[in-house]
Amino acid sequence: MAFATRHLVRAASSAASAAAGKKLVVKHVTVIGGGLMGAGIAQVTAASGHTVVLVDQSDEILTKSAKGIEESLKRVAKKKFADKPEAGAEFVQKTLKNLTTSTDAAAVVHNTDLVIEAIVENVQVKNELFKKLDKFAPERTIFASNTSSLQITQLANSTTRQDRFGGLHFFNPVPVMKLVEVIKTPMTSQNTFESLMDFSKAVGKSPVSCKDTPGFIVNRLLVPYMMEAVRLFERGDASKEDIDVAMKLGAGYPMGPFELLDYVGLDTSKYIIDGWHLLEPNNPLFAPSPLLNKLVEEKKLGKKTGEGFYKYK
Ligand code: NAI
Repeated sequence: MAFATRHLVRAASSAASAAAGKKLVVKHVTVIGGGLMGAGIAQVTAASGHTVVLVDQSDEILTKSAKGIEESLKRVAKKKFADKPEAGAEFVQKTLKNLTTSTDAAAVVHNTDLVIEAIVENVQVKNELFKKLDKFAPERTIFASNTSSLQITQLANSTTRQDRFGGLHFFNPVPVMKLVEVIKTPMTSQNTFESLMDFSKAVGKSPVSCKDTPGFIVNRLLVPYMMEAVRLFERGDASKEDIDVAMKLGAGYPMGPFELLDYVGLDTSKYIIDGWHLLEPNNPLFAPSPLLNKLVEEKKLGKKTGEGFYKYK
């Protein structure tokens, strides 16, 4: 009963603040997950003048993330301040000053404007995290997930702040790729959506918006395209080399679909397509591929394992 009352009061007050409230100007950000994506997100957020706490499971991981961020910042500085090495060094130092790390997410979200989650792509693990942080973060705090393939609505439903929850889908490598997809669920308030759009611009990205649908914009087009290439090859209609050459020279793509699959990781692509196939089993664009499944089973996952569709050893 006490829980129900608290829940209702909280829901009512958050609905009221969302309705009456203004856009939130994001100044302090907590990024959860210091891997490939989280480290990049923390970097661009700190570099654009926000204070950032980067959270991961161990100090060892965080030390590695911080080192990677510093090296990446030095590369950015070298390019951005080619003629002014002192200004470059100052940029690196200033950015690093904005960044701290922690292994205790609950302890650091008490005064944050925005939580960006970039942990393992597992709905149970993400939901557990959001449910916990919902209790510790202030009312105003917006939660966002960087998930590539999970439903934002499902994640939002693990919290009591569905109106202050959206998707912020960055692209790899984050410091280089200009796009962010801002995802609005049916429950995301307009203020939250606009705050996320503004934040994306403030970190130097070009945001686009999309409803909470499988793959949002980029992956919804890209993953079926790559799967169609695999099916073309599986049928024996063309070689993978010719398909890659054709898409590079005929469509102007920087990489062919098989090169791209190897770069992304065959396991990642299989994980995405299997998830969508479960959601829409009759959609031929989401059909699994026996060849892709076989390569993943053989641990030929692409560049990261030295072999995928091509060999890299
Ligand atoms: P990653 O494996 O490089 O990093 C994940 C990090 O999260 C690891 O350092 C891990 O220790 C940490 N972690 C796991 N559970 C945690 C927890 N409960 N609390 C704190 N830290 C935790 O993964 P990556 O590639 O950075 O992906 C992260 C998210 O970003 C996923 O949802 C993925 O779908 C999404 N994404 C990935 C892209 C990519 O190209 N890799 C592109 C766009 C989105």
